[in-house]
Amino acid sequence: MLDRLKPQSPDALLALIKLYADDGRADKIDLGVGVYRTNEGATPVFRAIKAAEAKLVAEQDSKSYLGPEGDLGFVHALMPYIFGKDATKQGRIEGMQTPGGTGAVRLAVAVAQKAGVTAIHMGVPSWPNHAQILSDVNVETKAFDHTNADGTANIDAVLEVIRHAQNGEAVLLHGCCHNPTGIDYSNEQWDQIAAALADSKALAILDIAYQGLGNGLEEDAYGVRKVLSSVPEALIAYSCDKNFGMYRDRVGALYVMMETPDKLDPVLSNLNALARASWSMPPDHGGAAVRLLLRDPDMTQQWLEELENMRLRMREVRAELAKAGHAGTVDLRPLGRQNGLFSVLPLSKEQIQALRDDHAIYMAGSGRINIAGLYLGNIPKFIDALAAVTS
Ligand code: LMR
Repeated sequence: MLDRLKPQSPDALLALIKLYADDGRADKIDLGVGVYRTNEGATPVFRAIKAAEAKLVAEQDSKSYLGPEGDLGFVHALMPYIFGKDATKQGRIEGMQTPGGTGAVRLAVAVAQKAGVTAIHMGVPSWPNHAQILSDVNVETKAFDHTNADGTANIDAVLEVIRHAQNGEAVLLHGCCHNPTGIDYSNEQWDQIAAALADSKALAILDIAYQGLGNGLEEDAYGVRKVLSSVPEALIAYSCDKNFGMYRDRVGALYVMMETPDKLDPVLSNLNALARASWSMPPDHGGAAVRLLLRDPDMTQQWLEELENMRLRMREVRAELAKAGHAGTVDLRPLGRQNGLFSVLPLSKEQIQALRDDHAIYMAGSGRINIAGLYLGNIPKFIDALAAVTS
């Protein structure tokens, strides 16, 4: 029976990891999958995480099961960073641990579908896995243009979509550091989005996977907090993969906000049932390490400093690219205004292939680059290569 299955192409983004590893050229540049890199091209474990992991190994006295909700100490410790001072909104927000941000988005879409959502509006381009998850859960993707040609957000399009969204629909928004474009909404635009959502029939689903990598931890939470102060209910998918450097440990959380605290339990019970049938319970180690880190003031301070250094390094790369102005036909100036790990360059498939074949520069087929793959030492090569393939 299994031979009826049609072969699927490997995930294009994840396939780049292997292609890059197999390339023997010494000056190769990896701008593919979204992991942070230092000036030396390394993706080290945060020192704060190392300290928390050492404590975890020393203190953990059991690996017996938790429930489908995972480590609630971890889930709650994150909340003030995401939601601010009144982190539960008087008991209206609760969450559960998920296997990474992907698990959180998957659970959000699945529970929305169970509640009757049949279509989700999504600005494109978006993280490719968003559309894959929606398709897998059998929810229709309704795409709208997220960007203007000048590298800014198409706010009119998002407001239009929210205003016309129907009952039984949801709107999926990136909380900050938009993947893949790096194009975020300004605070004023978030105010408009929140006001539109307040009047809309659509459910808000917010995906925040890069908090702290744009304009700062607090600054990057503006949109999420503004929306939550305006709507009665929402789902918030969160990832610690980037801002705690936990990638392969798969550390995420899904939060739900309801109009009143008494409405939370039925939603949470559905989330628990969905999680149980999917992965039973999330992997423990990473979430437990983040919990210990956030409960220790010294480790927390160290984490904040490490995160801030990552952010500042990426801002430096962005400023350097913007300063170059143009590389061949590519206008690099918008990259200076964009946020986070990613931006998209207007390159053809042939140009992207030529960058790989002739210059050992690896990027996604969409033209998305991982800013953290660049540093002051390889930016000149990158700019020269862009000029060569686009001239
Ligand atoms: C990315 O977009 O590169 C990351 O979020 C990794 C992933 O899972 O796709």
